[in-house]
Amino acid sequence: MGHRYSAKAVLLVLSCMLLQVVHSTTDAGLVKAYYASSCPNAEKIVRKVVTKAVKEDPRAAASLVRLFFHDCFVTGCDGSVLLDNSTTSVSEKGARPNVNTLRGFGIIEDIKEALEKECSNTVSCADILALAARDSVVETGGPDYEVLLGRRDSIIANYSGANAVLPSPKFNVSTLTQKFLDVGLSKEDMVTLSGAHTIGKSHCTSVTTRLYNQSGTVKPDPAIPTDLLTKLQRKCRNDPSDLTTTLVLDDVTPYIFDNQYYKNLLDKRGVLYSDQVLADTEGSNLEQVTLFATNQSAFFQAFVKSMTKMGNIGPLTGNNSEIRKKCHRVN
Ligand code: HEM
Ligand SMILES: *[C@@H]1O[C@H](CO)[C@@H](O)[C@H](O)[C@H]1NC(C)=O
Ligand SMILES: *[C@@H]1O[C@H](CO)[C@@H](O)[C@H](O)[C@H]1NC(C)=O
Ligand SMILES: *[C@@H]1O[C@H](CO)[C@@H](O)[C@H](O)[C@H]1NC(C)=O
Ligand SMILES: *[C@@H]1O[C@H](CO)[C@@H](O)[C@H](O)[C@H]1NC(C)=O
Ligand SMILES: *[C@@H]1O[C@H](CO)[C@@H](O)[C@H](O)[C@H]1NC(C)=O
Ligand SMILES: *[C@@H]1O[C@H](CO)[C@@H](O)[C@H](O)[C@H]1NC(C)=O
Repeated sequence: MGHRYSAKAVLLVLSCMLLQVVHSTTDAGLVKAYYASSCPNAEKIVRKVVTKAVKEDPRAAASLVRLFFHDCFVTGCDGSVLLDNSTTSVSEKGARPNVNTLRGFGIIEDIKEALEKECSNTVSCADILALAARDSVVETGGPDYEVLLGRRDSIIANYSGANAVLPSPKFNVSTLTQKFLDVGLSKEDMVTLSGAHTIGKSHCTSVTTRLYNQSGTVKPDPAIPTDLLTKLQRKCRNDPSDLTTTLVLDDVTPYIFDNQYYKNLLDKRGVLYSDQVLADTEGSNLEQVTLFATNQSAFFQAFVKSMTKMGNIGPLTGNNSEIRKKCHRVN
């Protein structure tokens, strides 16, 4: 058996080494500078559109980072989150974790349009999401890093998948961790990537169960300091029909990508239950929160590693995939 495979194995190793010279490859088959010859300005174009969008709306950066996360968790980073309802798919946009809260679709479409003008049928929507997330982190003061590319776009969306795999803000450390393990990420990745909540906003609907006595639960959540509770309650009425009011996730530096999120958690100023629980539950999660709260470079280094790992979840590279012309529908 071993002999039958050895020739193939040697060839594989050799071709990987060859590729390594041109690009740096990963397990998932993604490479750095994938568009270097097919669309040399691709990354510049993405950056330009993201910079403009963030200038117009500082929150756009946060929305684009979240969009990438919600794409990658559902059947891998394949642009499936961008698809509208069609005869072949029910859109993920209507799934519980996404409906009324996921944003940034227009910016992705603007980027796609600019890229189609520059080099048509070349850059996937899935790669646009990965690049736009990186650029958003950079625009808000976070670490810069090289994005591995070469993803292709799905030809279907997975509505039930989106309902099933994305974590809820009501989860505790073990259920949060399980959702990450389910897609091949670790508990450490979970604590690190939650640090993205250093930017952006939440709707009151994700927080009000912490603020008011509802259906017999003992609330307000005693973990919330009085001044923060007053502030949150003033913003968020006890009104489940309010689908529009929002709160910043980091009330100290809401538009800066820094390690303030972790400092907030140690001060019990996490906004989502799933944030605060990372510091309120003993274990490696608390040690990690403490490290990141005191050492921003440690957070940044870990964040780049975990974003790259998340970006490697199930990329489509073969058949049953395409390079979409418009990100919201299949070709
Ligand atoms: C650990 C489990 C996670 C849970 C339970 C969670 C939950 C949430 C919730 C409930 C919101 C507010 C949505 C709304 O009401 O508008 C939110 C926002 C956000 N999430 Fe997460 N999230 C998690 C992990 C992540 C990860 C891994 C990332 C990215 C790496 C991320 C990035 C963001 C960003 C940037 C926002 C703000 C979006 C905006 O302002 O448009 N989250 N998250
Ligand atoms: C997609 O269609 C379904 C009905 O098939 C509907 O319930 C859902 O709201 C639609 N989603 C979006 C995002 O329009
Ligand atoms: C949709 O997502 C669910 C949950 O991850 C998965 O079990 C299922 O195979 C996915 N369906 C498709 C068609 O990819
Ligand atoms: C976490 O939540 C799950 C599901 O609600 C529950 O079964 C489990 O006991 C909780 N774990 C802890 C440590 O609270
Ligand atoms: C909510 O419940 C707690 C504990 O049962 C109680 O102390 C508090 O007064 C209640 N608050 C309101 C506004 O009803
Ligand atoms: C902070 O973390 C970085 C990166 O892991 C490390 O090189 C550095 O020594 C740490 N600084 C301190 C003061 O511990
Ligand atoms: C992909 O499609 C091509 C053309 O239809 C076919 O020749 C090839 O065998 C397919 N590859 C896989 C892995 O299915």
